[in-house]
Amino acid sequence: MGHPRVDAIAQEAREAVAAARSSADLEQARVRFLGRQGVLTQLLRSLGTLAPEERRLVGAAANEAKRMLEALLEERLAEALESERRAQRTRARLDLTLPGRRPARGVLHPLTRVHDEIVAIFAGLGFSVVDGPEVETDYYNFEALNIPRDHPARDMQDTLYLTESTLLRTHTSPVQIRTMLAQKPPVRIIVPGRVFRRDVADASHSPMFHQVEGLAVDRNVTMADLKGTLGLFAREMFGPESRIRFRPSFFPFTEPSAEVDVLCFVCHGQGCRLCKQGGWLEILGSGMVHPQVLKNVGYDPEEVTGWAFGMGIERIAMLKYGIDDLRLFFDNDLRFLRQFA
Ligand code: DAH
Repeated sequence: MGHPRVDAIAQEAREAVAAARSSADLEQARVRFLGRQGVLTQLLRSLGTLAPEERRLVGAAANEAKRMLEALLEERLAEALESERRAQRTRARLDLTLPGRRPARGVLHPLTRVHDEIVAIFAGLGFSVVDGPEVETDYYNFEALNIPRDHPARDMQDTLYLTESTLLRTHTSPVQIRTMLAQKPPVRIIVPGRVFRRDVADASHSPMFHQVEGLAVDRNVTMADLKGTLGLFAREMFGPESRIRFRPSFFPFTEPSAEVDVLCFVCHGQGCRLCKQGGWLEILGSGMVHPQVLKNVGYDPEEVTGWAFGMGIERIAMLKYGIDDLRLFFDNDLRFLRQFA
């Protein structure tokens, strides 16, 4: 009706709209004809270059074609969007015949397992589980434990100080002091918890690790009780064949002090890679509570005696599972963790 040039464009546009299969296709067609660089847009923009009579004819036809195309696109776009929404709803509908998805089941962290095992063994012997603050004062962490001012453990190199007199506890032993100050003998406690040292992480060091402290104070508590208790612990933890030995050692808060080894459960004392040919594996430090420590908490060393021990949970776990790098516990690599299912 309008003008042959415009009619050809309008026809082309109708075909493009008819061929569109989606709202995206329609948008493409819109851009092609009505967009800023669109065929019709450019035609309208170039009207000024035409002779006046031609300009009137082409202008009228082009504006008419533009209105036609806009209306057509609007209608088809509404249809396309509606059918796309419908398709989306169908796709999203639940298929109740599908088998269920099994929820992923986690496993306990190896340190949690070993922690729980240690706690269960001592709970079975009548020990209660106690905890204490990870931010400690110099007094509980060192002073009350008879650790002298010039002891290397107090050095800034080893301890993470927060202020001059507060620090991140370097061991669980301060909870011995807190517990004894809060209650009268008999005391039978274990203290699992996090401890902190100024170390750079490598295969055998970590700035944070876990210990379990043990403390028993009563009338007539002897080193034989300590040895019996730890022997039982070792058999529960490492198997009924397990044996322990005491090696003389030194800790400021115990006298006498002993380091405790278990017979290497890989080679049974023959010497192997795990025990570095020694036949024995060190598992903890222990001893009879130093009389000065008892005095510091107001206990009478003539009345009561006690023993204590401290072990590293990571160390026990590494021995038990043959893990050779401490960092594996903290990387949270699922391939490592899943092995403890
Ligand atoms: N507190 C010591 C440490 O962190 C471990 C320890 C040794 C604890 C002997 C004790 C003990 O209770 O009697 O290295």
